[in-house]
Amino acid sequence: MSKITQIDAHKILDSRGNYTIKVMVSAGEVVADFSVPAGASVGTHEAISRDADSAVKAVKNELAPALKGYDPRDQREIDQLLLKLDGTPDKSRLGANAILGVSVACAKLASRLERMPVYQYLKTLAKIKPSRTIPYLFMNLINGGKHASSYIAFQEYMVVPVSETVDEALTIGTTIQKELRKIITESYSPFSLNIGDEGGYVIEGRSVREPLAMLQTTIASLGLKDKVRLAMDTAASSFYQDGFYEVDGKKIMPSELLELYKSLNHEFNIFSIEDPFYEEDFDGFRDLRGELVNGYVVGDDLTVTNPQRLQEAINKKSINAIIIKMNQIGTLSETFDVMKMARDNDIECIVSHRSGETNDDFIADLAYAFGVFGLKAGAPRRGERIAKYNRLWEIAKS
Ligand code: PGA
Ligand code: ZN
Repeated sequence: MSKITQIDAHKILDSRGNYTIKVMVSAGEVVADFSVPAGASVGTHEAISRDADSAVKAVKNELAPALKGYDPRDQREIDQLLLKLDGTPDKSRLGANAILGVSVACAKLASRLERMPVYQYLKTLAKIKPSRTIPYLFMNLINGGKHASSYIAFQEYMVVPVSETVDEALTIGTTIQKELRKIITESYSPFSLNIGDEGGYVIEGRSVREPLAMLQTTIASLGLKDKVRLAMDTAASSFYQDGFYEVDGKKIMPSELLELYKSLNHEFNIFSIEDPFYEEDFDGFRDLRGELVNGYVVGDDLTVTNPQRLQEAINKKSINAIIIKMNQIGTLSETFDVMKMARDNDIECIVSHRSGETNDDFIADLAYAFGVFGLKAGAPRRGERIAKYNRLWEIAKS
């Protein structure tokens, strides 16, 4: 049996304790599922997800009857049908979460029918220029912005091990994480070990510079200076209002924020900065690119895994790396198209989780299948984050 016989969905909880959905697609006895994540710092131009109850209804009442009898290996055809059934440009009628759940569960089901590991099956669906055998791991060890309750405006402070193996990269990441725990309790109070949405520490510090300094001290004390780079996702839309950015208790102009990035880069030799300016400022991104000559300016809220937004970023030379989040666009085929478009324009892809995650590990297969530049899955702790790292490790060992 290689035709879809049943599609079902139900509500589950995500890592923040919010409702999300799990979609199951069957071909006779063979079943596959996908549990859909959700963001907190959601880009204005992302595809629209519905609340979990409405998304479950959309899957059961509209998508299931329409897709029965289709071959799950016809991914393009299925994804086109999903777009047609929804009928809106932003997937707001049925919901990007309902649509993505079905799209990815179909691919997982097809891999089972083909008796292939997911990553191997995905390779048969698209041709995308690879960058690395094993992606760089972007591990978010200090959380701020919308993922925490603190004075730190920037959302994520990441370590990126310079390593060719998952094993070594994870050892480096977890070693830094453990040492950082000690340094935080010594620097602040013994009760300061708060954890943010992506599993990173939330510190009592007051300036956006402080987490970088703390990570640098930690890395130096471990003798790992040559093995790791620092990266940030500042998620600037979240502290932008009416032409100003609110940083360290002050309202500053875009030009001052650029100067701040320049000085932080000078001091900490930063590997990448994601969403350095608010999501409409394509020119601001371009200006930073000119300054970060050996680093990456990464689009996330700017580009929202959307071909039109990516095209604008290409035209304006705004970025040299892009975050890939499947639920920003809503189907697997459209995700492939954006990844291909990025690579054809020499832009690096960083496959990413969301801050509200599930235990699904599909993105590790997606990252490995196409030899992407980076995988971003939070701190190497908590089930929903380590599911991705452990899956990548398992694939790399196989
Ligand atoms: P989000 O954050 O999932 O809350 O959008 C992740 C990110 O900005 O990269
Ligand atoms: Zn981001």
